[in-house]
Amino acid sequence: MNREEMKQELLTKYGIEMWPEEKIVAFRQALLDWFDAEGRDHLPWRMNNDPYRIWVSEIMLQQTRVVTVIPYYNRFMTLFPSIQQLADAEEEPLLKAWEGLGYYSRVRNIQKAAQQIVAEYNGVFPNDPAEIIKLKGIGPYTAGAIASMAFNLPEPAVDGNVMRVFSRLFEIGEDIAKPATRKLFELLVRIVIDPERPGDFNQAIMDLGTDICGPVNPRPEESPIKEFNAAYKNGTMHLYPFKSKAKKPVPLTMQGIVIRKGDQFLLEKRPENGLLANFWTFPLFEEDWGDKQLDLLVAEEAAPDFTKIEKVVKEKTGVAPTNVQAAVGSFSHVFSHRKWNVTVHLVEVPNEHHAVAENMQWVNRSDFSEFAFAVPQQKMWEIIKKQQRNFFNSF
Ligand code: ADE
Repeated sequence: MNREEMKQELLTKYGIEMWPEEKIVAFRQALLDWFDAEGRDHLPWRMNNDPYRIWVSEIMLQQTRVVTVIPYYNRFMTLFPSIQQLADAEEEPLLKAWEGLGYYSRVRNIQKAAQQIVAEYNGVFPNDPAEIIKLKGIGPYTAGAIASMAFNLPEPAVDGNVMRVFSRLFEIGEDIAKPATRKLFELLVRIVIDPERPGDFNQAIMDLGTDICGPVNPRPEESPIKEFNAAYKNGTMHLYPFKSKAKKPVPLTMQGIVIRKGDQFLLEKRPENGLLANFWTFPLFEEDWGDKQLDLLVAEEAAPDFTKIEKVVKEKTGVAPTNVQAAVGSFSHVFSHRKWNVTVHLVEVPNEHHAVAENMQWVNRSDFSEFAFAVPQQKMWEIIKKQQRNFFNSF
């Protein structure tokens, strides 16, 4: 599609009239002048145009804020400085490098994509958007970000920031929660993007969209492109972008059982699929033991029902517990579609040898640092550490 055809489609399909060419040129100039003066050029992935560096940053930034990402990013680049080293990495150090960032399918996919690049592209990151998007874990946004920033191609990289900025500029009321809406913004950006500096253009919009044109408390009067902002000029900023409400994550009732034997704790490897796939945690499973579990600590008369806990402990360790503290704490952890409400129990078993299943192992707490622990595991451990003096004599 040529430029005129794109403008035509914008008008006929979405009813949006594109600015005249002089206005587009003036817009790019204003945006890039501001970016040159105020953009976040200190961000570590903006050091050069290395597609690998840009790719890793974009994957980390998909669901995580810039300030959180920076230390993870620097560590990751030191540990896995090249596509080849990422492709060859063992799972445990790789998960460890991602520990706490969440959305772990991102790190598994990035390794699979690195292996794809080694196998199919001789270890060289492909520079064609149609090839980039075939890599595991790379969707249209990330493909566009890499193509524009690393290879200077005029590709749109449309995420929530871009939709927020452009919906205000053009007063676009389409629902940005709908996947199809992204196509409209891609078309818009294809027309407006600076052909000489597409990567900087995309990053300038990102910087603008995280700060001056942010989701809360935007400061449009400070914006370098306020003259172009139809919603600002018409006093309709509050209407854009329109986003329908996402479904709430489904709540699940979970039990976490921390089992101690001497200085060791029982860790269990989670299944290959599902939430926290392949992570080691204290035994953690979905089961609803009723309201009573939550009341145990407060209701004096409630006689703790240990039978359920004892049953699980016996199944996993081969022995009955000698000491049980039910419901020592609880916490919630929200994933994208699920919310875990976890009650944590603390149990001691005799220091005897009994075989455990293959997906379990007794681990000395001094060896915990060798494991990648996902956030729910860290939360269980925090609860136990607080509890320790009440329960264990020699901890
Ligand atoms: N968010 C996503 N990608 C980004 C980038 N390259 N710079 C800053 N924030 C981002």
